[in-house]
Amino acid sequence: MKTIFSGVQPTGIITLGNYIGAFRQFTELQHEEDCIFCIVDQHAITVQQDPAELAKTIRSLAAIYIASGIDPEKAVLFIQSEVPAHAQAGWIMQCISYIGELERMTQFKDKSEGKEAVSAALLTYPPLMAADILLYNTEVVPVGEDQKQHLEITRDLAERFNKRYGEVLTIPEVRIPKSGARIKSLQDPLKKMSKSDPNKKGTIHLLDTPKEIEKKVKSAVTDSEGVVKFDVANKPGVSNLLIIESALSDVSVDELVAKYEGLGYGAFKAGVAEAIINHLAPIQEKYYELLESPVLDDILDEGAKKANAIASVTLAKMEAAMGLGRRR
Ligand code: TYM
Repeated sequence: MKTIFSGVQPTGIITLGNYIGAFRQFTELQHEEDCIFCIVDQHAITVQQDPAELAKTIRSLAAIYIASGIDPEKAVLFIQSEVPAHAQAGWIMQCISYIGELERMTQFKDKSEGKEAVSAALLTYPPLMAADILLYNTEVVPVGEDQKQHLEITRDLAERFNKRYGEVLTIPEVRIPKSGARIKSLQDPLKKMSKSDPNKKGTIHLLDTPKEIEKKVKSAVTDSEGVVKFDVANKPGVSNLLIIESALSDVSVDELVAKYEGLGYGAFKAGVAEAIINHLAPIQEKYYELLESPVLDDILDEGAKKANAIASVTLAKMEAAMGLGRRR
């Protein structure tokens, strides 16, 4: 059994991109591997959040994890700020990071570009993410493609730590799905689908109603050819919709192309919307049930206990290796 760790930020409503790139991998992996999943609320506050809204979003994300199929009997689910070792190990990882390598991170450049006041934590986000992963002796990290660079720096930092202080940390591998690693915006199929996209029509949220989904898919940007074909370079909009339907219906892209042969984009989009609606209906139903139930708190309490037990051991080893405190 391998140890799997991944995290999702509680900011805004989860998108179809998060679901296909990350959650689908999580539910698949939990059957064979030792899985630990985190609601990374300390990462969320690297940009200013409304406190009441953040508290609500944390709970909502916990319900989404469970509603989308995470089984709390099989996987650990917890909130990052309820396990103090994350901030403590995050500080240690900051101490071995270089400003230059952090400034080169694409996500930092994207999020800080043109902004007047950028928090220091936006720069030191990757060392905290490295701590999240390394505290659990993680072997595999399932994420979407946009997190690949953060995984590379996590590996670099772990190797640097081990070289300086001895073999304490496990070097993790990244796991990116073969298809659906970067779901694109429906309005600009060259850009990734994102929670923070100001163009709301480009992003499908997991809690969108059937009407909203139909409307967004109907207005998705395609091309003027009118033929349903998979060709990412020349037909990015159509290809993105094919990837979405394929991921949610477990039908291959080739089979979908055959299904839509001779039909126009109207019928194609109606089919894609239907596949999304049908897939999300049971998840949404479970979500609204869970949100009202105390079960969610029991799951998160249990998760924090289990996560604390593992993380505190690794933290103690890291601190001892560095000569901190009186642990030697
Ligand atoms: P976050 O919260 O932005 O995204 C959560 C997961 O969703 C994936 N994802 C996508 N996949 C496919 N297509 C898209 N359009 C798309 N948009 C997002 C992301 O790749 C991610 O897997 N830094 C992380 C959170 C984090 C973390 C960690 C992840 C903190 N610590 C430790 C793994 C391990 C983030 O901001 O993800």
